[in-house]
Amino acid sequence: MDTVVLARALFGSTLGFHIIYATIGVGVPVMIIIAECMHLITKDKHYAIMAKRWTKGFAILLAVSIASGTIVGVMLSLLFPGFMEIVGQVIALPFQIEIFAFLIEAVFMSIYLYAADRLPSWLRLVSIISVAVGATASAVLITDAHAWMNTPAGFEMNDAGKIINVNPWEAFFNPSFVVTAIHVTVSAYMTVAFLIASIGAIRLLQKNLTKEERVYHRKSLTIAIYLGAIMSLATAVNGHETAQMLHEYNPRKLAGAEGLFETTKYAPLSIGGYTSREEEEVKFAIEVPYALSFLAGDRFDTEVKGLKEYPEELWPPLYIHTLFNVMVGIGTMLIGLSFLAIALKWIRRKPLPNWILALFVAGGPLALIAIEAGWCFSCIGRQPYTIVNVLKTTEAATQSTNVGLLFVLFVSLYVLLLFASVFILRFYFKRHPVHPEFNEKEVQS
Ligand code: HEM
Repeated sequence: MDTVVLARALFGSTLGFHIIYATIGVGVPVMIIIAECMHLITKDKHYAIMAKRWTKGFAILLAVSIASGTIVGVMLSLLFPGFMEIVGQVIALPFQIEIFAFLIEAVFMSIYLYAADRLPSWLRLVSIISVAVGATASAVLITDAHAWMNTPAGFEMNDAGKIINVNPWEAFFNPSFVVTAIHVTVSAYMTVAFLIASIGAIRLLQKNLTKEERVYHRKSLTIAIYLGAIMSLATAVNGHETAQMLHEYNPRKLAGAEGLFETTKYAPLSIGGYTSREEEEVKFAIEVPYALSFLAGDRFDTEVKGLKEYPEELWPPLYIHTLFNVMVGIGTMLIGLSFLAIALKWIRRKPLPNWILALFVAGGPLALIAIEAGWCFSCIGRQPYTIVNVLKTTEAATQSTNVGLLFVLFVSLYVLLLFASVFILRFYFKRHPVHPEFNEKEVQS
């Protein structure tokens, strides 16, 4: 296999692995904040137990998140030296600020984890809010570099290929920064909400729960469903803005996402199917007339650029249509599921039926698949460029010949770590079931 493909496969699998833990690291503190707030308001001990147990899970996964994040940094330098040369000159700022964000997260996490029982409730809340701010800021800052790769700004390149006139703040506030940072943040909150809903649903489907355990898991499921509903809706609304950003700054990717070959006014939206290069259309898709034009520019007569505006060697791989569909399809399904559950709760005023719990069991893994599909769509859809219209992936990647062996070794390591972290989580929570905590005396502060 060629070195560039191997370098992309190795970096892609590293990022795909890290994203799971990074997403959880961004979302779980928000769930803990909600549980802490509920405890402050209701004085219900169940919420304090929830916050404590989620914190334990978070701490276990944080270790893998930090380790895999470090591997991502090392991989970038090793696999894409041409890219790092430009990054160092233009977009180093978010990486530098990220060190402070990580410091805030780590310091307050230690305080919250080891001193929670000795802190007054309000100070515990301040600590976990600081953890959430640090974690989200880290994600936003790293995402900034990704956004800049899609919409590079803040520098010029002279005829000799040298970077000149660097403006780090212009690079920082590149055109897609805000919209991309919001998309990544709200989709992470949404994913964690659905993961916690999955765990709650699995527990509630078990027959051998005590009455109090059932009440406890229903409370955690309710928090997760409400957060999931709000965040999935926010993800879709912001996803629409992200698509409009593509229309303005990266129409080639939007054309690939929708399998649109000809530049078209009143363009239809193609849902499902696959893009056929030979027949120049999306086969077996459901077409919604005029919807793509409307989504791109808020008007039915918006002209949407087709792939044929560009030489074929600059087209992204046509299968990005499927990646886009997976992300949007799962997002839409999860909006439907969470709002259906809320409606059922309000109308029936009874615990949720088992069939909807079974759907929630699938919700968490599906949200994770949507996150992976989103990253793959964005990064594969940028090809053949690493930095759009500036640096091709073939120029950015290493020429080293050892990447194949590294790929096998690292992928084996990721699979091992994935199983190990699931095993450790299961082992910990099996050894520390929730029911003995119901009888523990709460530390009053
Ligand atoms: C529901 C409708 C959605 C729409 C219209 C939408 C739209 C988009 C678009 C256009 C991009 C590409 C941005 C770029 O390359 O610059 C993107 C990327 C992404 N999406 Fe979505 N999305 C939706 C749902 C979701 C869901 C449900 C998730 C995950 C739970 C998700 C996670 C992501 C991620 C992680 C990225 C990569 C980061 C980025 O470039 O923004 N999206 N989305």
